[in-house]
Amino acid sequence: MTVRITPSILNANLANLAGEVGRIPSADGVHIDVMDGHFVPNLVMGAPFVASLRPATDLMFDVHLMIEDPDRWAPQYVEAGAQSVTFHLEAATAPIKLARELRSMGARAAVALRPATPVEQLADILTEFDQILLMTVEPGFGGQQFLDPVLAKIRKARKLIDAAGGDIWLQIDGGVSVGTIERAAEAGADTFVAGSAVYRSSDPDTVVTSLRDLAGAAQVRAR
Ligand code: DX5
Ligand code: ZN
Repeated sequence: MTVRITPSILNANLANLAGEVGRIPSADGVHIDVMDGHFVPNLVMGAPFVASLRPATDLMFDVHLMIEDPDRWAPQYVEAGAQSVTFHLEAATAPIKLARELRSMGARAAVALRPATPVEQLADILTEFDQILLMTVEPGFGGQQFLDPVLAKIRKARKLIDAAGGDIWLQIDGGVSVGTIERAAEAGADTFVAGSAVYRSSDPDTVVTSLRDLAGAAQVRAR
């Protein structure tokens, strides 16, 4: 299984995002958190932000929408330059329709679940998505502690994805660090968002490489 590290820029220096994305050349993408102050109690980075950051890097843009009514707003993030758009199942009115719309625009369609939302809710619609994101903290803020109870859900998601076939990425987001990534990788995650672990380091790219190495070794052990 390929390991992908997609650092979140939520805790980077927001006044110099063009410079900040240049500090993670080894990453597999940039995770851009969008929050509307309603779905989560925090407010950051709308579509114009994504569009103005687009010329700063060739890395894939992995946009994570923590907003209400993604049915209405998600497509404009593809227009802004996102290769992957993740919306929350809890917020979407018509998730299948929205996923198909995102794919028809040429983007990867992804769906996220809060820590307490059962993964079984996705069982019958899994193949509509290119990526499943399991939150390992309550969405809203960087720097929170990894929620170990989500590990069981990662294992269930891995089984569902393997049974579905195809190439669906299993991403986790929240509290990912050199201290937590191995157990998430052992449980079956393959794509990892890390915010504060990367950007609170003086050498973000080395953290990206270390995270990838640890997750890869953990996957091998779990086989
Ligand atoms: C939280 C965001 C995360 C956040 C992760 O709601 O979705 O992407 O930036 O930050 P860390 O890695 O610090 O938990
Ligand atoms: Zn996120």
